[in-house]
Amino acid sequence: MADPEAQGVSEELLALRQRSLPRGLQPAVDFIVDRAQGSQVWSVEGDGYIDFVGGIGVLNVGHGHPAVVAAAHRQIDQLIHSSAQVAIYEPYLRLADQLCRLAPGDFPKKAILFSTGAEAVENTVKIARSYTGRPGIVAFSQAFHGRTLMGMSLTDTVKPYKEGFGPFAPEIYRSPFPYEYWGWDSERALEALEESFRTSWPTDRMAALLIEPVLGEGGFVPAPFEFLQSLRRLADQRGLLLIADEVQSGIGRTGRLFAIEHSGVAPDLMSIAKSLGGGFPLSAVVGRAEVMDGPTPGQLGSTYGGNPVACAAALAVLEVVESEGLLARAEVLGSILEERLGEWGRRFPLVGDFRVLGAMAGLELVQDRATKEPATEATQRIIDGCRERGLLVLRAGPQHNVIRTLMPLNIPEDLLLQGLDTLERELARASVGRD
Ligand SMILES: Cc1ncc(COP(=O)(O)O)c(C=O)c1O
Repeated sequence: MADPEAQGVSEELLALRQRSLPRGLQPAVDFIVDRAQGSQVWSVEGDGYIDFVGGIGVLNVGHGHPAVVAAAHRQIDQLIHSSAQVAIYEPYLRLADQLCRLAPGDFPKKAILFSTGAEAVENTVKIARSYTGRPGIVAFSQAFHGRTLMGMSLTDTVKPYKEGFGPFAPEIYRSPFPYEYWGWDSERALEALEESFRTSWPTDRMAALLIEPVLGEGGFVPAPFEFLQSLRRLADQRGLLLIADEVQSGIGRTGRLFAIEHSGVAPDLMSIAKSLGGGFPLSAVVGRAEVMDGPTPGQLGSTYGGNPVACAAALAVLEVVESEGLLARAEVLGSILEERLGEWGRRFPLVGDFRVLGAMAGLELVQDRATKEPATEATQRIIDGCRERGLLVLRAGPQHNVIRTLMPLNIPEDLLLQGLDTLERELARASVGRD
């Protein structure tokens, strides 16, 4: 039974939300969140939820991890802000050094910090253009790279991210992402890319290939490792840079610190954000030292980039990933997910396809397995049903018909299984009457 006082507060806040926020910001849930710990969140009304969303992939180490909280508290007492462009500070330098050490690639690296994923991606483009002296960036179908002007320009999906917001930045070239379920196997996607280079793109004006090693908002689709290896080869042959956008797939989500490591490929530049800051706004670009030094003094930066408290939290996050063995844990979650999603694939015709790389799993739902018509409404019904039964899950994919998993990597087994049972019941419910 809801506490009437808490219910009153909730109603008042929901009214404020309705009155004060633009409709363009649309929270996915209809409750006001009050607090969170580990793998659970609670509404102001006191309802608890198992969290398979993690603030959109930001909480790989869980909500309010004691080590992250302690590091942030210590830093708050010492220095909250100075701006790296004014005076640099130890947590920034330690974190940049760590990222250079941890990013793939056996070559000298440098790193710079920002606040958001989009800002990091934008800066990979600035750095790539500055270093190569060329403007062209190849981005892939179904890509999502953020909501700023460059982020939107690089993003493929029009609705809702781009609609009505153009004109977009020029010199962005699109090639098919290797999405096997939709007929684009690695070989075909590579042929399409090579064909564009041969016949329609100004080859001498191209700076970089930019790819999410696992499509995030685009539907949780891992690029086949051989495709990433081919991109590396093609970039080297043509004198282009390879940029990996690890904003959603990084910090252990897939069982490696960065998803591209599964392929053995080292990108020239990489954007990192989300789980890096453990909930504090923090992003980074790390890459080959000589490339990172393309822009001249004063050309890179931002007032808040690499905030000291966020850096201290990030250093704690990286330590937790190590000390709690979260990469191995992501693999364990991956096998549990693989088995469970496989079983659902056999039981429920609604399941068209599923993809699992570590704890980054996507379940694509279709009306009909032959036509692959997206089951957009059923997906939303399942997500709503899960929420009513105490589980938060998020959709993905341009047709909103993919359910994605972004639970904390250290989620206790009982909560994980409870969450999966809830999802299974809702899938079963949505499958009634279908065959
Ligand atoms: C792959 C990828 N790149 C960039 C972004 C943009 O990050 P932010 O929302 O922090 O700007 C996202 C956000 O979901 C993402 O998934």
